[in-house]
Amino acid sequence: MEKKSHYSKAKECFIDTEDAKKFIELDQSVYFLEKLKQTVKKPLKMILLYGEPGIGKSILLNRLYLELLKSNSNVHLFLSPILDEDNFTKTLYRKIFSRDENIDFNQFVDLVNKELSFNSTLILLDEAQLYSNSQMEKIRILSDTRKIKFVVSLHKTEQEDLIAKGHFQTRIWETIELKPPSMNELETYIKKKLLGKNLFNLANQFHKKHIKFIYKYTKGNYRETNKFLYHLFEIYEYYEKNKPSKINFSRISKKYLEMSAIKLGYIDV
Ligand SMILES: Nc1ncnc2c1ncn2[C@@H]1O[C@H](COP(=O)(O)OP(=O)(O)OP(=O)(O)O)[C@@H](O)[C@H]1O
Ligand SMILES: [Mg+2]
Repeated sequence: MEKKSHYSKAKECFIDTEDAKKFIELDQSVYFLEKLKQTVKKPLKMILLYGEPGIGKSILLNRLYLELLKSNSNVHLFLSPILDEDNFTKTLYRKIFSRDENIDFNQFVDLVNKELSFNSTLILLDEAQLYSNSQMEKIRILSDTRKIKFVVSLHKTEQEDLIAKGHFQTRIWETIELKPPSMNELETYIKKKLLGKNLFNLANQFHKKHIKFIYKYTKGNYRETNKFLYHLFEIYEYYEKNKPSKINFSRISKKYLEMSAIKLGYIDV
């Protein structure tokens, strides 16, 4: 079997993933995780997790779920919304009560009131910007029982700001807004990704000036950074295969960083 080049391995480090086991502990991501863990313990109705696309909401929610499951079985994660309302009720019913009959929403609310204890159940909803108004209203009714609490994760765009305002202003008791990492933290992120695959040599080739260049375009957004590095190593992969004499294997070249930025449309040519 052909041995994979370091550049191919490096490229693969930066494929998007929401896998909780791949969660990288940076000061900032640990801070948000701890904050969420503390917040979900409080007797709130809803918690809003908020932030621009690619900032790490889904992987954080997955990580929270993984950690909470260790100590609490009354937590359920919905990574993508169930847009059919009857199906949504049915799925909640099945997950929370482990039963499978058809029940309507009112019956479900009655059951919740009767059978669940105060503050006992936590539902994590990712991509909540996709829920309709009437579904959000049902979620609100459920949270009003005080038996079920929701973490609602929304991405922040102008339009969805309105949704957030309309639904949550009076109801959400806590909002956690994810912010991009600092430049130093982005450096740690990139290096930890590479070190995770034992690519020590490549990790060491990233100096402040390289990170600064990447940060300038990605503004610390993780998904954008992933794309940037994926393309960078793809370019290296190409040259390694086709024109290896063009590569300096011992340092990251500014030219290739620029090519990656061009490919992503950050720089016009
Ligand atoms: N702490 C972290 N550790 C490892 N990877 C991370 C971390 N934070 C973000 N990422 C990576 O950044 C990418 C974007 O993260 P994620 O998909 O969670 O963003 P999002 O906020 O849910 O975006 P969207 O609003 O588009 O759904 C993912 O590939 C993820 O692996
Ligand atoms: Mg997401």
